[in-house]
Amino acid sequence: MTVLGPGSTIGMLGGGQLGRMTTIAARQMGYRVVTLDPTPGSPAAQVADEQIVGRYDDPQAVAAVAAKSDVVTLEFENLSAKMVERLETLLPVRPGGRVLRIAQNRLLEKAFLRDVGVPVAPFAPVHDKHALAEALQQVGLPAVLKTATMGYDGKGQYVVRTAEEAQAAYAALRVDCILERLVPFERELSVIVARDVMGRIATYEPAENVHAAGILDTSMTPARIGQDVAQAAREIGARVAESLELVGVLAVELFLTAGGALLANEIAPRPHNSGHWSIEASMTSQFEHQARVTIGGPVGPTDLLRPAATANLMGDLWAAEEPQWDRLLAMPDVKLHLYGKAEPRPGRKMGHLTALAASPVAARERVLAARAALEGRD
Ligand SMILES: Nc1ncnc2c1ncn2[C@@H]1O[C@H](COP(=O)(O)OP(=O)(O)O)[C@@H](O)[C@H]1O
Ligand SMILES: [Mg+2]
Repeated sequence: MTVLGPGSTIGMLGGGQLGRMTTIAARQMGYRVVTLDPTPGSPAAQVADEQIVGRYDDPQAVAAVAAKSDVVTLEFENLSAKMVERLETLLPVRPGGRVLRIAQNRLLEKAFLRDVGVPVAPFAPVHDKHALAEALQQVGLPAVLKTATMGYDGKGQYVVRTAEEAQAAYAALRVDCILERLVPFERELSVIVARDVMGRIATYEPAENVHAAGILDTSMTPARIGQDVAQAAREIGARVAESLELVGVLAVELFLTAGGALLANEIAPRPHNSGHWSIEASMTSQFEHQARVTIGGPVGPTDLLRPAATANLMGDLWAAEEPQWDRLLAMPDVKLHLYGKAEPRPGRKMGHLTALAASPVAARERVLAARAALEGRD
């Protein structure tokens, strides 16, 4: 297996913040990056060597990226798997189409996890009204009805507590769905793992995540869990990466129940919002890993340098007035990351804050205090 040296070009399908942070890591190491994104001046394009403006399903635009690249990577899983598989006949695409097919469909994803021996909540497919009744029988209530494809940040899902609520939710969604048992979790965790072309695997210390309105709000690591649970989470991450023969970075979102059991919720075959702390707090960030593994290099050390936490900065922060940057900048231990998005719409991820501290809780308090200062709430 040959490692592509600095000066080689990485094609990046996707122009959002994950692509941006991967691009920064790749360019730091001397690689060139060409992005593909429909919006001129997207977050990744701002820091890339070159942007092709085009849709991800536009064969000409994709061919233009391939022609300029030595290897291709992607920052999100909702690309046409067929298109990615076609691209794979021309040059290496990491991760490849097979991984995408599984990760972009919640039914395939849950079945895959179950089949490789990773525990998941009871689930059933819902393709029509009749199947919904059957699924309710099988899964039980309360449950969550989710669209099988294209859901993100809690979009396209309803918690349902009665059969009537389930029918109403299905009538509102009206696409192929998955019904899952609502897990009464004690904590939400995630584990990030990188796997290289030689099959070597590096796992990160699991993070503990808090969501607000279905969107990740804060992450801290180490999670407040025992060594055994942390080890089990890392083993799940490694097993998933191995079973997918992934070449890339992958996150597994997990529920920890009061009884100490881990259930996998979903996988994301790319750097993940719950791993942004790894930029400051790990020997090898998840973005460096994405770049390293993409160019055929080996995985690196994932030692946690210090407990860390991140808090997302959503567009809502801009609703009343411009955030109070001077207040934040007066807290130099809190690291500011802004993604270069022009329009701060509510619910849109604009950036994040990271702090390192003596404990994960102290780090979390620090980023929350910094965010409150930005809002003028402190
Ligand atoms: N089966 C479930 N039981 C309990 N909570 C759930 C379940 N499914 C989803 N959630 C909650 O909703 C959040 C978003 O759901 P998820 O399946 O991760 O979709 P998305 O792709 O939008 O992130 C989860 O992080 C969790 O807080
Ligand atoms: Mg999720």
